[in-house]
Amino acid sequence: MKIIHYKSTPVFVDGKWEDLPKLVDISGYSKVILVIDENVFRLWENRFTQFEYLIVPSGEEQKSLVFVEKLVQGLIALGADRSTLLVGVGGGVVCDITGFLGAVFMRGIDFGFAPTTLLAQVDAAIGGKNGVNTGDYKNMIGTIVQPKFILTDLLFLNTLPVIEFANGMAEIIKHGCIADATYFSYIESNVEAITKRQLDVLRFVIQRSVEIKASIVAQDERESGLRKLLNYGHTFGHAIEKKFGLPHGYSVSLGIMLVNTLVVIPQNLKADESLRIRQLLANFGLPVNYEEYPIKELLELVLHDKKRLSDELHLITLKTIGQAEIVPFKIDKLTKE
Ligand code: GLY
Repeated sequence: MKIIHYKSTPVFVDGKWEDLPKLVDISGYSKVILVIDENVFRLWENRFTQFEYLIVPSGEEQKSLVFVEKLVQGLIALGADRSTLLVGVGGGVVCDITGFLGAVFMRGIDFGFAPTTLLAQVDAAIGGKNGVNTGDYKNMIGTIVQPKFILTDLLFLNTLPVIEFANGMAEIIKHGCIADATYFSYIESNVEAITKRQLDVLRFVIQRSVEIKASIVAQDERESGLRKLLNYGHTFGHAIEKKFGLPHGYSVSLGIMLVNTLVVIPQNLKADESLRIRQLLANFGLPVNYEEYPIKELLELVLHDKKRLSDELHLITLKTIGQAEIVPFKIDKLTKE
């Protein structure tokens, strides 16, 4: 196990879920209540017998104030108080709901995460931004509060569906692209081992991605500068997710391809590096052919959305693999193409 600290949060990478009471001092809490994904609970029920729990049905629909209120009622029924510890066990949705709930229940109680998907382990559990959706708008209501701990147990990945695994790989490849060329090359050289979920390789990849994200969050928690780089592939990715209903990582993959090849953005990324990124995404089964989608319509949608806020759009592009930058450009420039 490796412990990575950011802000005052320890991330126990490759820790064992059963070791929670050894890794985290839970003796000062009145009780520990798990907020747990229904599938994770069904698949691993016998790992969760020691704590009380509330079940979260699978799906992004649960990220709503209505569902959070249901959980509040559940906490009250279980006798939760100010010194209760909440632990979110599941993927990104569960982390979001639990972090938000923890930040607002009785004006804030302690919470931690045991992320069970690759995406949550390398991305969603880290950073402290947690929120719920309203109508068509994602994460419109939310908080920035860091979890007390993140316990990343790789055993949960054994039951992770292939599509979910690929979702996590999109964020992992993003980390290499924006921050570490050597890491990017490592992923390129280990596609087969990663796909087979070979433990030593997977452990290194998760650890390196956690280090990259945690270091960026520690330097810029409130996203005033550096943290924006994590949005590489996400400006268009979010729009693709919303419009075409593709999984998050698939949308980010297409978002990366779009931003890498948009000719109107002044950028330095060389064609051969752009090809390497395309190949690596494709190697993990992620979609790269945005031509298959009505992208022009999508671009107009994004730009229209952004234009309501400003005439300038800030896109994250790469100088080279391993180095990202923020490029401001006039929205009109793109719409005339
Ligand atoms: N919860 C994910 C983040 O803060 O980026």
